[in-house]
Amino acid sequence: MIAVVVKNVVLEAHSVVRIVLGREDNERLPTFEAGAHIEIHLSSGLVRQYSLCRLQADDRYYEIAVLKDPESRGGSRQVHALKIGDRLSISEPRNHFPLVSLKRKSLLIAGGIGVTPLLPMAQTLAQSGADFEFHYCSKSPDHAAFSSALEVGSFADKMHFHYSQVSSSGRMDVRETLSENLVDVELYVCGPANFITAVLEEAKTLGWPEIRLHREFFSAPAQETTATENTEFTVKIFSTGEAFLVGEDQTISQVLDENGVFLPVSCEEGVCGTCMTQVVDGIPDHRDVFLTDKEHQEGKLVMACCSRSKTKTLTLDL
Ligand code: FES
Repeated sequence: MIAVVVKNVVLEAHSVVRIVLGREDNERLPTFEAGAHIEIHLSSGLVRQYSLCRLQADDRYYEIAVLKDPESRGGSRQVHALKIGDRLSISEPRNHFPLVSLKRKSLLIAGGIGVTPLLPMAQTLAQSGADFEFHYCSKSPDHAAFSSALEVGSFADKMHFHYSQVSSSGRMDVRETLSENLVDVELYVCGPANFITAVLEEAKTLGWPEIRLHREFFSAPAQETTATENTEFTVKIFSTGEAFLVGEDQTISQVLDENGVFLPVSCEEGVCGTCMTQVVDGIPDHRDVFLTDKEHQEGKLVMACCSRSKTKTLTLDL
């Protein structure tokens, strides 16, 4: 864990604040690669993950941009209440959403606050002279964090702004953009869950290979599955042989916690990857959006905060 202080708070766009974090003594922070995030431990005990983004590279500071979410379970509201001088603990940067190739063209598609991991990606791609397009969808320039800087920045010629509430701009034609980039392009998409899902579905329909599709969810898409469709099963700990019943209305991570088995969790909705656990035996019933379709099919990993079991027993490598 790293102890940091809030160095600055800037209203970046409508309902979006940019928080600048640094060590009290202004010593350098660990480096990070485009797409990385940090965990922020808020004073209430909540732990939230935010992508690292900054317009100017200064290794003394991390910056995050956070949308005040009306559906917030408290995280974004507490971040919006932070003031200069507040003290926080953060994790070292981790990256589940890296750039996979600088040789192939990259297609970056951001929906609203989904711009945050894609901004450093665009900076990295521009610095290395790689081919890319950056599509930024938002309601209006006032809602689009970093838009004024991106309009005049060093890769302004790569930017495509799609403002749904600006008649001269309008919504992005996702199908057309994906069709034009079908061959040998890496797609990176981030934004609201339904936005990501719609872009990925369109890409799959057009025949984009799964291996070229990269996404980072900030929240889980609305699930059609209801608690009444859950069935109970047993979760077994491989190292000790202990077995616990997971009731219809419980999660694996809750049951493990109640029985003193430590498993780190953060988002608790299958988005962040913190609770990822290896499966030794049994077939998981995946409910997360973190793993890829291929990983879901392989069934070797499970997100214990939300996923369940198709078999009567699920043995985990714990
Ligand atoms: Fe985030 Fe499980 S805690 S995916």
